[in-house]
Amino acid sequence: MIELKKYINIKKDTIDHELVAILTAAVRSGTIQEAMRYSLMAGGKRLRPILCLASAEAVGGNSADVLKVACALEMIHTYSLVHDDLPAMDNDDLRRGKPTCHVAFDESTAILVGDGLLTMAFEVLSGEMTGKQHSPEKQIEIIHKIACAAGHKGMIEGQMRDIASEGIRLSLEALEAMHLLKTGALIEASIHTGATLGGGTAEQIQQLCAYGRLIGLAFQVKDDILNVEGDPALMGKAVGTDQERHKTTYPSIMGLDAAKVFSEELITNALHIIDNFDSRSDPLRAIARYILERKR
Ligand code: IPE
Ligand code: IPE
Ligand code: MG
Ligand code: MG
Repeated sequence: MIELKKYINIKKDTIDHELVAILTAAVRSGTIQEAMRYSLMAGGKRLRPILCLASAEAVGGNSADVLKVACALEMIHTYSLVHDDLPAMDNDDLRRGKPTCHVAFDESTAILVGDGLLTMAFEVLSGEMTGKQHSPEKQIEIIHKIACAAGHKGMIEGQMRDIASEGIRLSLEALEAMHLLKTGALIEASIHTGATLGGGTAEQIQQLCAYGRLIGLAFQVKDDILNVEGDPALMGKAVGTDQERHKTTYPSIMGLDAAKVFSEELITNALHIIDNFDSRSDPLRAIARYILERKR
């Protein structure tokens, strides 16, 4: 069995180091650059890039070959948080244990930070990679998949539905569809990217994507649960906000206990899908369990 904490810390350090290197190389000094760095380096869990690296390893690839791509995924995720926190969206003051970007800087800077991070992600994705260079066909394939997951077919549609649903009671089906778009799509794309560039077979990639959809949904269900009973000091963001904003969440529809059981079932099913993978997938197994146990 791998020791997950150690694995996560090593990968997180590698990702953080590479993010700083990319920022330093690509970015001049100025307020927008300072603000982009502020949000990107504020201390996220780096789940999406770690999943990308772990998925490459799970199919026998080398994680160093997907490091830049993994960093691009984190840029997209961080942009989504900066915009999600804006007054016109969730209007949150705290993120990753620090004042949100629009509080630390101002609203127009935060909008541009999001734009800047999203654009920089595609600058990185379409540029030279670390380690082994990938074929142009594969590079285009993953750029397309990531764009679909981050855009109006994925996260943006999920965010639209989330905002539109405030004060409205969604059905369980509608809630699941929203979560899969809002959070699941980018998580699945992170896994797809790692597995594709890592040299996985079509069947392996398909299985890992199915695992990704389930852990992605479980991740958002756990986010809903933590919004009810989490410790804001540990999480670095406010709790109780879903209820304040009258959002439909898994706990609000099915109750806290049933939401926990549901998230456990999702993870059990996700683990089952990758049963036939060898020990190189142990980090993916451990990450799936961590999603349930996490306190932040
Ligand atoms: C928070 O994502 C927003 C959701 C999609 C639930 P994370 O919990 O991965 O946030 P960071 O990156 O660790 O701050
Ligand atoms: C954030 O979702 C999801 C995206 C940014 C796509 P939430 O609004 O539910 O997450 P938190 O609680 O602010 O992290
Ligand atoms: Mg939101
Ligand atoms: Mg939010």
